[in-house]
Amino acid sequence: MDQKIIYDFDPVISRAGTFAEKYDARKSFFGKDDVEPFWVADMDLPTPAFLVDRLHERVNHAMFGYTEQYEELFQSIIWWMMDQHNVAVDPAWISLSPSVVTSISFAIQTYTEIGDTVALLSPVYGPFFTCTTQNKRRVSDCPLQVVEGQFQIDYAALEKQLADPSVKLMLLCNPHNPGGRVWSQEELQRLAVLCNENQVALFSDEIHCDIVYPPSIHQSMLNINGARHNSIMAHSIGKTFNCSGLQASFTIIPDESLRNSFRKTAEEAHAGDVNLLGKTALTHAFSPEGAEYKRQLTAYLHENTQQVCKLLQKLDKVKVMQPEATFLVWSDFRKFGPWQEVFNTLIHTANVALSGGRFFGPAGEGWFRINCGHPRSKLIPAVERIVSTLAE
Ligand SMILES: Cc1ncc(COP(=O)(O)O)c(C=O)c1O
Repeated sequence: MDQKIIYDFDPVISRAGTFAEKYDARKSFFGKDDVEPFWVADMDLPTPAFLVDRLHERVNHAMFGYTEQYEELFQSIIWWMMDQHNVAVDPAWISLSPSVVTSISFAIQTYTEIGDTVALLSPVYGPFFTCTTQNKRRVSDCPLQVVEGQFQIDYAALEKQLADPSVKLMLLCNPHNPGGRVWSQEELQRLAVLCNENQVALFSDEIHCDIVYPPSIHQSMLNINGARHNSIMAHSIGKTFNCSGLQASFTIIPDESLRNSFRKTAEEAHAGDVNLLGKTALTHAFSPEGAEYKRQLTAYLHENTQQVCKLLQKLDKVKVMQPEATFLVWSDFRKFGPWQEVFNTLIHTANVALSGGRFFGPAGEGWFRINCGHPRSKLIPAVERIVSTLAE
């Protein structure tokens, strides 16, 4: 490993014309194909060269047939989970998956029946809602409270909701998208106890767990006392290594019975695997070189999110959540008028496309999410335009 590599996240690399959703779907999403996009949560920062080299080597072989689930892949996951998150994982607990959202859908199909209820804490990543309703289950939404500018769980309300016998599964976003909260050990412990008491399985989506800003430390649900036997944890290289298009994800389910039933669902759908290039990327990303890249990336993103929050705080009418994790900044623009108007003004006057808060459920209405995973020379002027537009 070359410890001397210094990653430069400043160069601007055009993604337009690469079928990148963030760029090439602008016309259909925002009615304008030159608006600067800070919406969908992938980064405009390159995957590290060492990883691109491994992909090149594999592509150069020129044969892309069926691949087995080889040992090195599992060892990389085990190494990463211990090195980065202090979680000891048995290889037998790991199941590969094309994506975290696929695993969410499989968990809903596995642990609930049609007509059952799935609990969640909103505002939260939109597919938590859509996977539930598309699978013909009901949503029990326990909205998060904003306390001193950060999301807090309303445990009294949640306790009542989980006591409903039709609630069989809870979906948790840990760390939280869109709020960037890193749930503490105590908060997770209380959740685990409530789920245990009510026989509710707990799905912990930990896709954002690598990008965490000091002094916060990610706590995996797998390390919470009494939670292991009842938890399904999902992760991916998508966010950390900007590899979402490679579709390389996995679940870790320590409990044998929960794991076997989950695998049965995945097998029935023939979707318990990762494609060849995804496997190559996953094997090499979760390595000491990958850890060093992640360390430098996190520092860059931390500075980005801090600068963005500082700029937005110039506007008295804006409430900004300083993220403890994720490259996302969640802000309350409700004082500027109906969200559709704000959304359109930002597109047409500031030339900036953001994620509108409704994607994260009704509690997100009027809030906006800014993706800070961009070179600073693009991000900061865009946020300055947001500030000057809203100031008017
Ligand atoms: C919390 C959360 N889970 C899952 C995903 C999507 O993951 P995947 O592409 O592996 O389905 C995202 C993407 O933004 C996310 O924020």
